[in-house]
Amino acid sequence: MAIWALITGASEGLGREFATLAAKDGFDVILTARSTAKLEAHAASLRRAYNVAVEVIPADLTDPVAVETLWERASAGRQIGVLVNNAGLGRNGEFADAAGWSREADTLAVNVTAATILMKRAAAHMAGHGAGRIMNVASLAGFVPGPHMAVYHASKAYLLSLSEAVSEEMRGTGVTLTAVCPGATATQFFAADDAEHKTLLTRMPLPTAAAVAAAGWAAMTKGRRVKVVGLLNYLSTILPRISPRRWVTFITGLLLKRRW
Ligand SMILES: NC(=O)c1ccc[n+]([C@@H]2O[C@H](COP(=O)([O-])OP(=O)(O)OC[C@H]3O[C@@H](n4cnc5c(N)ncnc54)[C@H](OP(=O)(O)O)[C@@H]3O)[C@@H](O)[C@H]2O)c1
Repeated sequence: MAIWALITGASEGLGREFATLAAKDGFDVILTARSTAKLEAHAASLRRAYNVAVEVIPADLTDPVAVETLWERASAGRQIGVLVNNAGLGRNGEFADAAGWSREADTLAVNVTAATILMKRAAAHMAGHGAGRIMNVASLAGFVPGPHMAVYHASKAYLLSLSEAVSEEMRGTGVTLTAVCPGATATQFFAADDAEHKTLLTRMPLPTAAAVAAAGWAAMTKGRRVKVVGLLNYLSTILPRISPRRWVTFITGLLLKRRW
């Protein structure tokens, strides 16, 4: 029986690269995101390059009903061997801005609720097969509170914590969970931030999505529980653990401040 990999956020950036890595490793692949045309184009190139089956299931992950429908369609009659919970969003901005709740609501719906639903469904499905790999794309942001990007950082802290806890629960079942934690990466994620509003982080030279995805995919394949991508990023997760939390929050706030 063919083994399938379900990749969320597969139309752009890291998700597109994860889909390529899955096809390269011989998995049949299900691509999901909202941009159907981009997904179809990537699906066609993966079929040509790797001779695997690729299905596109468009879904807006802000809608929990659409997330459930996505899982039903993806898993019907198939063994899902890999789930990559990659779709995510988050913008810089002040929490107290009166701009309304929709930005935060979408961030929580995709980064927290959709990822949790898919992870729960996949964990049960994979446990039934006695095998499977789940990757949750968290972030360096999951290790520290993030002034000016507070909801995003909190959402990634949730995903990191959930992933580690369930990984422990599922030890010995044949199912592994890997929280991949990239630092800032060159993708469309920051594209909406115009030059005037770039943060210090996004002004630095950034690693490519292909390099970051390859490191994450390798960690998932080995069944690693947490993978911080990049040595400097890894070192930057150690300091916050031994420093006063207030200082850590202050310094992170400087890095995320706009108008540098
Ligand atoms: N780039 C970084 O610096 C960085 C650093 C650490 C962690 N991460 C994490 O890495 C993951 C991938 O980010 P990226 O940098 O590759 O971002 P990206 O280039 O902006 O891609 C985001 C992907 O998520 C999908 N998506 C967004 N909203 C969605 C929705 N409502 N429903 C379904 N799909 C949706 C997008 O597809 P559609 O627009 O077509 O729906 C797209 O495929 C995210 O979880 C992000 O938090 C990124």
